[in-house]
Amino acid sequence: MSATAERERARRRIEALRREIRHHDYLYYVLDQPEIPDAEYDRLMEELRALEAKYPEFVTPDSPTRRVGGQPAAGFRTVRHEVPMLSLENAFSEADVRAWDQRVRDRLGVAGPVDYTAEPKFDGLAVTLIYEDGVFTVGATRGDGIEGEDVTANLRTIRSVPLRLHGSGWPQVLEARGEVVMPRAGFEALNRRARERGEKTFVNPRNAAAGSLRQLDPRVTAERPLEVYFYAVGKVEGGELPATHYETMLRFREWGLRVTEHLRRVDGIDGCLRFHDEMLRLRPELPYDIDGVVYKVDRIDWQQRLGFVSRAPRWAIAHKFPAQEEITRLRDVEWQVGRTGALTPVAILEPVFVGGATVSRATLHNMDEIERKDIHIGDWVIVRRAGDVIPEVVSVVASRRPPDVRPILLPKKCPVCGSAVVRPPGEAIARCTGGLYCPAQRKNAILHFASRRAMDIDGLGEKLVDQLVDKGLVKDVADLYHLTHEQLISLERMGDKSAQNLLEAIERSKETTLARFLYALGIREVGEATARALADHFGSLERIMHASREELEEVPDVGPVVAEHIVEFFREPHNREVIQRLIEAGVRWEEHEGRPSGPGPLDGRTFVLTGALQHMTREEARERLAALGARVSGSVSRRTTAVIVGENPGSKLAKAERLGVPVLDEQAFLALLAHPERLNELLEEGES
Ligand code: IVH
Repeated sequence: MSATAERERARRRIEALRREIRHHDYLYYVLDQPEIPDAEYDRLMEELRALEAKYPEFVTPDSPTRRVGGQPAAGFRTVRHEVPMLSLENAFSEADVRAWDQRVRDRLGVAGPVDYTAEPKFDGLAVTLIYEDGVFTVGATRGDGIEGEDVTANLRTIRSVPLRLHGSGWPQVLEARGEVVMPRAGFEALNRRARERGEKTFVNPRNAAAGSLRQLDPRVTAERPLEVYFYAVGKVEGGELPATHYETMLRFREWGLRVTEHLRRVDGIDGCLRFHDEMLRLRPELPYDIDGVVYKVDRIDWQQRLGFVSRAPRWAIAHKFPAQEEITRLRDVEWQVGRTGALTPVAILEPVFVGGATVSRATLHNMDEIERKDIHIGDWVIVRRAGDVIPEVVSVVASRRPPDVRPILLPKKCPVCGSAVVRPPGEAIARCTGGLYCPAQRKNAILHFASRRAMDIDGLGEKLVDQLVDKGLVKDVADLYHLTHEQLISLERMGDKSAQNLLEAIERSKETTLARFLYALGIREVGEATARALADHFGSLERIMHASREELEEVPDVGPVVAEHIVEFFREPHNREVIQRLIEAGVRWEEHEGRPSGPGPLDGRTFVLTGALQHMTREEARERLAALGARVSGSVSRRTTAVIVGENPGSKLAKAERLGVPVLDEQAFLALLAHPERLNELLEEGES
């Protein structure tokens, strides 16, 4: 390429970069909704800076490289910083840091190690607070470093901002600078609430902090979990501060200005590097995000001698940690099936170095998240890896969407067992319906099947199920009934006697009830009480398997969601096959005609429960009553049919007695469940 052509190409690239950077500045500083990770933004800036250095004739005063930060947003009064709020030079390696230390010592003419302070680099929003005669008067954001936004009212709502300095000895005017951050826990909670309300979420705690502080209504800020950490001084009038940064920060603390507990005075650059490693280890445990550490020359007179270069002090440097967010391409999506049948979408990524490791897979959480974030296969996405947390896809870079992206579709069949996949309307999570058959759900299904309130196979615990499944002896619950003595004694820690006992327990379990069997199948949301209601209502498995949604919904306690789960479970041929094999193996129960649907025997009756029952939980009691058509209320009134009293009843008993409402003890209650037609008789006995 000729020199002119190359120059022309550089000019066009410079313009394109400036346009792109301005766009991202706007998203970041004005909307608090950045679209690309910081690391990517830094790369764009770096490329622009390099091109401008090579072609100085293209430098313009309005280039993003000539400015420190963003412009103040409309709506806030502007505050001019008398002492500019500058930024820090970045170092990404030990070599960068050592070179900086060398420059510092050369300039100062110091041969030995310099005293530095080392502290976390907070990933929040820089602010400055002016205290006059010890009283907080004005607070502002950094803005472009020269002018920021007046956010005094919002800063006042933050608990860790003292409205008045403690102690004494502060200068008449003191400008304290620091960072507003949102702790991760508060950030998660804020986003959870936003999601529940269908509102926009923040991409990370830093943006949440910025967005919260730059609210025009301070009442909104007041509800956000914000904190402040101070780390620098601006203007000082009418008073003196100590001769070192470290001691200044100790004074800050005495005055009630919060300073990080991780502030250290260290010996030379080796001390700095040790601190860096220590903080990198601590990073995942800190309650807030940090993106590196900051080293500062401790002596203030030396800071003054070193002075500034363009936009950053020579006496300080930020030693950055590996970025926790990076940008990469989403190549494909795989679906993982969990123990409960939940399908989780996993992003297959173009490998990217993030958070200190190469990441090629990340979770996409569920279908709802995919839809909310509008992620497609082929998109550029932001991947986040923080500490030991599973890497996740946080968002998509919409402005870089290639034309040939494909939507992410929920598979119709389980990728593990081929059974149908369903996602009930309104639910985020899709599931495999082959609960009895799917290898991913095998162990769970067997444990549940054998549990005490289901088929009650004594001795079949987790360790044993693991072995049976891992050795391939049991693929589904029906296989349990074909286990042999020989197979069992081949297992670890299984003697002759315990094998015999287990076989007997399995044999005993064959004699069961329809309710237990239904519960044992592990149909989603069919608990014991629902299983019992279904058994009572239909009387036979055959009728339940062929019941329509509408027929199922006639059973008290069965709503549309549960009905749907039941229909789907029995529609899956794999499940029907396992049931058939269970019956062939000799599992049996008594059937009856069923109680034809229609009003229940306790229809229109209202009961109140109080105290602890011995034979069932309160929840079960409630369900059993509901299954008979009764209503269960939380408070006693004259219209209450009866109050059912367990041990240690509460004030409801007293109220029942006062109102003359009949009282049933547990014995009478059990009699009622068995013979609801005897209600009146029982009520008479229980008249209070
Ligand atoms: S000192 C003149 N100390 O990093 C130097 N800055 O990238 C004043 N920051 O604008 C800054 N933690 O928002 C300093 N412990 C710390 C910091 C810190 C975070 C931020 C601050 C600054 C930016 C520069």
